[in-house]
Amino acid sequence: MSKPPLDPLDQMVADYSLVTNGYAGNAPANPYPMFEELRGKCPVMNGDLLKKHQVPSMADYMMTDRPTVTLLRYKDIHKVLMNPKDWLSYIVGDGFGAAVDNMLLTAMDGEEHETFRAALQKPFMRKEIQKLVDTLIRPVVMNEFVNKLRPNGKADLLREFGLPFPIRAIYAYFGFPHDEDLLSNLASWAIKVVAAPQTDPELAAITVPQSMVAGQSMFDTLLPIVKAYRARGEMRADILGHMMQVEYDGRHFTDEEIALFIRMLLLAAGETTTRSFANMMVQLLENPDAMEEVRADRSLIPKAVIETMRRDPTAAAVARIAARDMEIGEHKIPKGTAVLLSIGAANRDPETYEDPDRLWLKRPMRPLLSFGFGRHMCMGMHMAIAELEVALDAMLDLPNLRFDPDYPKPEIRGLNLRGPDAIHVLWD
Ligand code: HEM
Repeated sequence: MSKPPLDPLDQMVADYSLVTNGYAGNAPANPYPMFEELRGKCPVMNGDLLKKHQVPSMADYMMTDRPTVTLLRYKDIHKVLMNPKDWLSYIVGDGFGAAVDNMLLTAMDGEEHETFRAALQKPFMRKEIQKLVDTLIRPVVMNEFVNKLRPNGKADLLREFGLPFPIRAIYAYFGFPHDEDLLSNLASWAIKVVAAPQTDPELAAITVPQSMVAGQSMFDTLLPIVKAYRARGEMRADILGHMMQVEYDGRHFTDEEIALFIRMLLLAAGETTTRSFANMMVQLLENPDAMEEVRADRSLIPKAVIETMRRDPTAAAVARIAARDMEIGEHKIPKGTAVLLSIGAANRDPETYEDPDRLWLKRPMRPLLSFGFGRHMCMGMHMAIAELEVALDAMLDLPNLRFDPDYPKPEIRGLNLRGPDAIHVLWD
């Protein structure tokens, strides 16, 4: 007898857990003491810290044993990210690029990256996103989720809110029809693509073909949506509307190209925001003084978002490859060497952040690396930040929000794509 299909939310949780497990490997759930030790002993470390812990690493997704160096200091990582000419991004496509026809902005370099980014970025700029806070983000967060959860007095914030709300918000901004099944199918396929890289060959034999099917299913689903939008002839102030009107190289994008871009954005847009929300809530619930501080003074919400993203980032590692012979401090890095940039380690570098382990909302600002930095800095960061701010504001309205003692305390885990498995809470 075939198994009954999973509830769409349970399916999303299952896919999300597959990603967490893949990126946790055998590393300690709390990697920060290890980062501290390594940063002190060998801040420019030979080898790949992720691979060493059986975590798929974008420095060498294909496991070719390409020479790799891991950087752990803030100043070195900042310098690499600021120099995209000598430190190239194409290796980022090695992992799941094949599942999405290599249409990944993160994996483009030089002029190709500049022109695509220039064409795509307008709807993601801060000014545009600010217009969405009261018209789209807050109504989604409040009406579709928090107001419905409130009478229950309890929830798994990951399953019932953190997973579905960013997807619902960004899909509405894309200009997609409101259809629950469509939304959860696309979200699950996007997670399956991200889950493709696995270090266990037996698991990879399942996840890689699954990701190819998922990538194709995404395209096949998106293309008719794009065509139907164009056929309606009514251009709205959303992402699809923008992509249909923007000029690129003296022409407009075709429907097929737009479907490819949207698929690329879907990979970046859902899970990362979910995990950042989850890591923020776990840290605040573990630090009730900080939670009270921001509850009493809501003007601290933006700082709480940034500080929790610094202290425990979900995108804890990114990678580049040396375009020519390079040097980092005293270390010579030959052309063709991949560098794994441990954002997790950089974010707790005491040379940059005083008392780095402390959750300190009024911490003096430094350029945040948790969205990357430089030319490839996250194109969706203003959307993500707006979502996280609205979500935190809503959570602070739940009186006496606390961990549910009937469940184990959540643990944020993973060397990349860090996140907890569930966040069971109660409120009065
Ligand atoms: C809190 C949530 C998010 C986090 C932590 C995050 C993190 C990142 C990071 C670290 C990078 C840089 C990768 C690199 O330099 O190799 C990046 C790039 C990118 N992100 Fe995000 N992201 C988030 C949300 C979003 C959202 C909501 C979208 C889209 C709506 C998005 C779209 C992109 C795109 C398109 C790029 C590639 C930019 C480029 O290469 O020029 N991200 N993100």
